[in-house]
Amino acid sequence: MPGTRENWGSRAGFILAASGSAIGLGNLWKFPFITWNNNGGAFVLVYLVCIIAVGLPIMMAEILIGRKTQTSAVGAMKKAIGPAWGFVGGWGVLTGFIILGYYSVVAGWTLNYFVKCLGWSINGFPADIDMGGAFGSFVGDGTMQILLAALFSGATMAIIFMGVSKGIERITKILMPALGVILLLLIISALSMEGAGEALGFIFYPDFSELKPGAILEALGHAFFTLSLGMGAMITYGSYMGRKDSVVSAAAMVVFLDTLIAIVATVIMFSVIFSVPGMTEQVGKSTAGMLFITLPQLFYTAVPMGFILAPLFFVLVGFAALTSTISLLEVVVAYFIDEKQWSRRKATSICGALTFIVSMLCALSLGAWDSLSNFEVFAGKPGLFSTLDHIASNWMLPIGGFLITVAAGWFMTREATESELVDAATPTWFKYGMWRFIIRFVAPAAVAAIIGAVVFFGMDFS
Ligand code: TRP
Repeated sequence: MPGTRENWGSRAGFILAASGSAIGLGNLWKFPFITWNNNGGAFVLVYLVCIIAVGLPIMMAEILIGRKTQTSAVGAMKKAIGPAWGFVGGWGVLTGFIILGYYSVVAGWTLNYFVKCLGWSINGFPADIDMGGAFGSFVGDGTMQILLAALFSGATMAIIFMGVSKGIERITKILMPALGVILLLLIISALSMEGAGEALGFIFYPDFSELKPGAILEALGHAFFTLSLGMGAMITYGSYMGRKDSVVSAAAMVVFLDTLIAIVATVIMFSVIFSVPGMTEQVGKSTAGMLFITLPQLFYTAVPMGFILAPLFFVLVGFAALTSTISLLEVVVAYFIDEKQWSRRKATSICGALTFIVSMLCALSLGAWDSLSNFEVFAGKPGLFSTLDHIASNWMLPIGGFLITVAAGWFMTREATESELVDAATPTWFKYGMWRFIIRFVAPAAVAAIIGAVVFFGMDFS
């Protein structure tokens, strides 16, 4: 029904929602961890190059496809390129469904750690606590895991239920500024810590002799995840965008904010870690370890005002995760609304319930249920949770991204893409010819390299 489709209520609507989608566990959980494992500096530089040279142009491609067609992923690919391309959108919907399944589980952990931290702030942090052991028994507690995932999925569904401008836009308008304020408080306090200098050196001083061979591909793979690319999330959000705004500036803003937050979060975490002697050997064992084992302990034992900052920190992670799960669910829901003419209510209830089933299974695959926790499809990735993360990050996003890039570069005409990217609102730094060159040659080659690395060298981006 033309004319009845929902749209962002304001110019800032798209930027807030899209950066809410991009900024999430990828920035706060994965990025600091892979930066740590890749020895900082040189890796961060490589990552920045990947983000600007490949991530930004693909972000523009996705948003332009969405805005041009004013439909969500499947319909957008059909309309912009041709009926046969609908499957690329469908691939994206499936990817969103899978990511949402395991992402909600980790998102749920933030609730638990927030409540735990409140308790510690009030009653004091137990000196003899074994944080690693406690984490292990926490993730192995099936009832608790399901309960937390249910709370988180429920919150996500409630917002999607309310719609694009009344739900997504309204909540991101509150959560994103809140996230900014919390991050500001944390960074101020982190920079005043003893380890701040060492942390900044580690992150910003590039020592190329420390760069591992696979780092470039790892950086590129992460660029997809953190920018929410490769599954039509930005196509879907772009489809709610009006013609007044520039696709180019919106994409640039989202990419800038996402990168800024990833780096600020890393500075915060590393300043804390470097401030405690002997700590550096203990971190980096696992992604979960840094965020849920090391950091809470450090907040209470080493950080001035840590008892205030620790709960705030988990609020931050929770907010960031929520604005991302919203975008994941919206891709799936929007497909059923646009293509199957379901009402938003019906689509949200059914898709939400189905993803919750996947989340439940993931929640039980961390120790609570043996057969879900121990099977191994990919070596070293036991359990449903790790298997799905591996499939989505290593296979589904890069393949989806590759197809979207090829579609925008080779199957859409120059006029079709130029008319979306270049208009009165386009910033002067943008060169269309450059974008087209990247989207036709550089980006597909880079993404093909990721896929090749996974296929031929068994590389792991999850
Ligand atoms: N970008 C989010 C993060 O960094 C995760 C996410 C949300 C995502 N929507 C997505 C990843 C779509 C890929 C595709 O946490």
